[in-house]
Amino acid sequence: MYHHWLLPKTLVVSVLLPSLAYSQANAGDAGTRSADAFQWIQPANTTILGEYGHSPPVYPSPKITGTSEWETALNKAEHFVSSLTLDEKAWLVTGVPGPCIGNIGPVLRLNFTGLCLQDGPNAVRPSDYVSVFPSGITIASSWDRDLIYDRFHDLGLEYKGKGAQVALGPVGGALGRTPYGGRNWEGFSPDPYLTGVAMESGVRGLQDAGVQATIKHWLLYEQETQRSPTLYPNGTLEFSTYSSNADDRTIHELYMWPFANAIRAQASAAMCSYNRVNGSYACQNSKLLNGLLKEELGFQGYVMTDWSGLHSGVASAQAGTDMDQPGHIEPMTTLLNQTRLSSYFGGNITLAVRNGTLPESRLDDMIKRIMTPYYALRQDQDFPATDPAMAYYNTQFSSSNYSMDSLVFGEKSRDVRQDHGGRIRQHAAESTVMLKNTNGTLPLKAPTSIAIFGSDAAPNTQGLFIRGPSEIGTLAIGGGSGNGRFTYLVSPLEAIKARAVQDNTLVQFWLNNTVIKDANVESLWGATAPEACLVFLKSRASERLDRESLAVDQHGDTVVESVASKCSNTIVVTHSGGMTIMPWADHPNVTAILAAHYPGQESGHSIVDILYGAKSLSGKLPYTVPLNASSVNTAPTTNITTSGVDDWQSWYSEGLEIDYRYYHTHKIPVQYEFGFGLSYTNFSMASLRVKPTHPEARILSQPEALATRPGGNPALWDVLFEAEVTLQNTGSTSGATVAQLYISFPDEVSAPSLQLRGFEKTYLSPGESYTATFPLMRRDLSYWNVTQQTWLIPEGDFILRVGFSSLDLHDSVVLRPVEE
Ligand SMILES: *[C@@H]1O[C@H](CO)[C@@H](O)[C@H](O)[C@H]1NC(C)=O
Ligand SMILES: *[C@@H]1O[C@H](CO)[C@@H](O)[C@H](O)[C@H]1NC(C)=O
Ligand SMILES: *[C@@H]1O[C@H](CO)[C@@H](O)[C@H](O)[C@H]1NC(C)=O
Ligand SMILES: *[C@@H]1O[C@H](CO)[C@@H](O)[C@H](O)[C@H]1NC(C)=O
Ligand SMILES: *[C@@H]1O[C@H](CO)[C@@H](O)[C@H](O)[C@H]1NC(C)=O
Ligand SMILES: *[C@@H]1O[C@H](CO)[C@@H](O)[C@H](O)[C@H]1NC(C)=O
Ligand SMILES: *[C@@H]1O[C@H](CO)[C@@H](O)[C@H](O)[C@H]1NC(C)=O
Ligand SMILES: *[C@@H]1O[C@H](CO)[C@@H](O)[C@H](O)[C@H]1NC(C)=O
Ligand SMILES: *[C@@H]1O[C@H](CO)[C@@H](O)[C@H](O)[C@H]1NC(C)=O
Ligand SMILES: *[C@@H]1O[C@H](CO)[C@@H](O)[C@H](O)[C@H]1NC(C)=O
Ligand SMILES: *[C@@H]1O[C@H](CO)[C@@H](O)[C@H](O)[C@H]1NC(C)=O
Ligand SMILES: *[C@@H]1O[C@H](CO)[C@@H](O)[C@H](O)[C@H]1NC(C)=O
Repeated sequence: MYHHWLLPKTLVVSVLLPSLAYSQANAGDAGTRSADAFQWIQPANTTILGEYGHSPPVYPSPKITGTSEWETALNKAEHFVSSLTLDEKAWLVTGVPGPCIGNIGPVLRLNFTGLCLQDGPNAVRPSDYVSVFPSGITIASSWDRDLIYDRFHDLGLEYKGKGAQVALGPVGGALGRTPYGGRNWEGFSPDPYLTGVAMESGVRGLQDAGVQATIKHWLLYEQETQRSPTLYPNGTLEFSTYSSNADDRTIHELYMWPFANAIRAQASAAMCSYNRVNGSYACQNSKLLNGLLKEELGFQGYVMTDWSGLHSGVASAQAGTDMDQPGHIEPMTTLLNQTRLSSYFGGNITLAVRNGTLPESRLDDMIKRIMTPYYALRQDQDFPATDPAMAYYNTQFSSSNYSMDSLVFGEKSRDVRQDHGGRIRQHAAESTVMLKNTNGTLPLKAPTSIAIFGSDAAPNTQGLFIRGPSEIGTLAIGGGSGNGRFTYLVSPLEAIKARAVQDNTLVQFWLNNTVIKDANVESLWGATAPEACLVFLKSRASERLDRESLAVDQHGDTVVESVASKCSNTIVVTHSGGMTIMPWADHPNVTAILAAHYPGQESGHSIVDILYGAKSLSGKLPYTVPLNASSVNTAPTTNITTSGVDDWQSWYSEGLEIDYRYYHTHKIPVQYEFGFGLSYTNFSMASLRVKPTHPEARILSQPEALATRPGGNPALWDVLFEAEVTLQNTGSTSGATVAQLYISFPDEVSAPSLQLRGFEKTYLSPGESYTATFPLMRRDLSYWNVTQQTWLIPEGDFILRVGFSSLDLHDSVVLRPVEE
């Protein structure tokens, strides 16, 4: 059965839809929010375990076939492999302690000097003289492909400058299934479309700079709690890591989706995650690695483990893992001798090939996959030597007494920051989201007197933090391997004081939240009442820990209430790793709210640019801010009530309904919806129109079965329709906005009521008009049919809607197929 689509003249164009009925709510019950207790126990359900506790076997591991772009590189890799001894082959797939966070040792007789793998998505880590960039969730708020590309390109240049071939980023998982996730800030957005675009831009940015992108973490790694096995003191396993149990359709339409974009952009490496999926460790789950990643998505690079994420040798290699990191427990200097290899890989790989358990062809494929991106990115030609300072900061290495002389040759402490600071400032400013601005309070207009409140405004008092900010100190990045070593960090207080001088503005400040929350702030400022009160709030998120609460840290909510009770012009700025509940959002004295997320090293400058209106303000929320924590339908599994070794389970029973897909489908009022953000000017949007790109062609429900390429079946990426809408800047100042396209699937297939399927950011002068274009690919209109194991375009009416957010929708069109 197939169908095609009516041509444009017969498209049903609906009347103007100003906004959906359940539009942004007036948060009347914000004061009644729940205590936000963090206890989400999911006992193992043996009934479901029967259904889910199983991941189908997919063997053998698909071999690299090359792509047109990588053909020459694959030939070089094949030649390289043919020159290796068996011991050298085992050596190349197994990390060794060395100067970098991950190291592949050299084969000097073949002029291969090894690979240096460094964290992370936000800065070259660990290292000195590098930039700390705005984090993933921050730049996702720009909704700007070019900005994201530039940010990753700058980061890539720093990797290369430091002599690191492999960047451990970008992050498309955690996707952000739960706002409690400790690492959501490293990724982009719980919307797979937005994250997919960002992943693609990130991979291209890094690789155009000559470094390998590692897309991580594959897959369903959505919580930190119990991400590693728990052992008894005697070393016996008490609990295995949690198992993420999701259905096939959810896996395809949400969690795999952004990785498909990244693989299509020729990502070099993928990192398998710590968790289990359907009961099987991600690094030895053949369905995940052989089936979904290498076969279905046509991934041509290599799979490396997350650090110590390997739990078996031969089984993992057969299931599709190509590289063990960090691999050997002994330092590279000892191992250069190659007599004492020990890891599940390493010497075990040699033994397994010798005893016939692992085919040598599989080992050869692992190395071809590792070496092809290396040659494709020309890393065999004049790649800078590893900076010895990275070894110094790598405690694993520096704490050992081994000489690194034979491993690091480069000049020490090279400054690779170039002019990146300026762009970091601009990118963070353009990624700031303005959620409220009443009475035209922003931008500030040469105020006579202002007051600044909150520990988050302050310079850090304990150095340039690497483990976390000081109690009194601004927060510009999250914790864990996505952290970075600042060379400087401009605090809001410093930047505002410097800016205030221009207007002769008096600046008072109070930075201790404990003091502010209990104070009568009027008595603090006495006779000199401020014209504006700026409150800076922070919310820390870190690897290893999920967030315990969705509230801001350090009594921040009470700090706002305290200030707003006496100051009728209270401006709140949040620095957070994702969503925070804003119970004071509708307080009449809170006149403006800015969500700045984690802006990186130029934090203070970026926020000054926004507060004083010097830069185009155009950020949009990459997630929803609900009215209260009890609205949230997804939380991490934080404990279990049984004692079975395998009992930690995380059931993805919400299926496709995460973030706005849940709130909108169930018409749950929210504080600020996905895609929302104000600007300093106004825009109109009208005349949505859609045309097929191949008017003569029939559009079949099922994609043509073309040979798989990186990203999957290329037919899925065919642009079938192009939608256009006209925007105009109707205000009096220049500014940028983001036109957003959402689709609703036909009723015949159950799906969330709205899903993002296009966006375009544009900058317009007053009066200027622009036509935004949204290419709709086959994948955008398809759902994953579990029975048929393919993407299908369902029959029935699609509704396309355009607007400035997921609720502020201005026009719509119905696409209707005709049966033949
Ligand atoms: C376990 O899952 C089955 C099937 O979905 C369901 O009927 C049952 O209520 C669940 N039991 C518990 C204790 O949650
Ligand atoms: C996980 O189990 C679900 C339910 O049986 C299945 O639909 C899905 O394909 C499985 N995925 C993997 C990777 O095992
Ligand atoms: C290694 O590099 C040297 C110097 O460039 C060159 O003479 C030699 O042929 C190379 N060896 C191999 C195996 O490529
Ligand atoms: C290790 O300790 C656990 C918990 O005390 C115990 O159940 C287990 O039998 C011990 N294993 C060994 C090998 O001693
Ligand atoms: C390698 O290790 C062996 C055994 O420990 C030792 O006898 C030999 O001298 C070492 N070779 C080198 C080159 O260090
Ligand atoms: C094989 O793997 C085990 C488990 O990691 C390890 O203890 C052992 O040393 C390895 N053997 C070799 C030869 O590397
Ligand atoms: C072959 O070697 C591997 C790795 O040491 C080991 O796990 C496996 O049990 C061995 N198989 C046989 C048949 O000896
Ligand atoms: C803001 O505007 C509202 C409504 O116009 C008004 O009641 C309020 O006094 C104004 N607040 C300030 C600080 O100007
Ligand atoms: C903040 O104020 C509280 C209450 O006075 C005090 O206990 C705390 O030490 C102060 N913190 C800092 C860092 O000064
Ligand atoms: C707003 O601020 C004024 C002081 O300017 C204060 O009198 C009033 O009570 C505040 N409103 C609220 C709701 O706290
Ligand atoms: C989980 O629950 C058990 C029993 O209630 C408790 O002893 C344990 O401390 C809890 N573990 C965590 C990590 O909260
Ligand atoms: C998937 O395809 C099967 C078989 O053609 C069909 O019965 C089923 O309704 C489809 N699934 C959905 C969700 O439409």
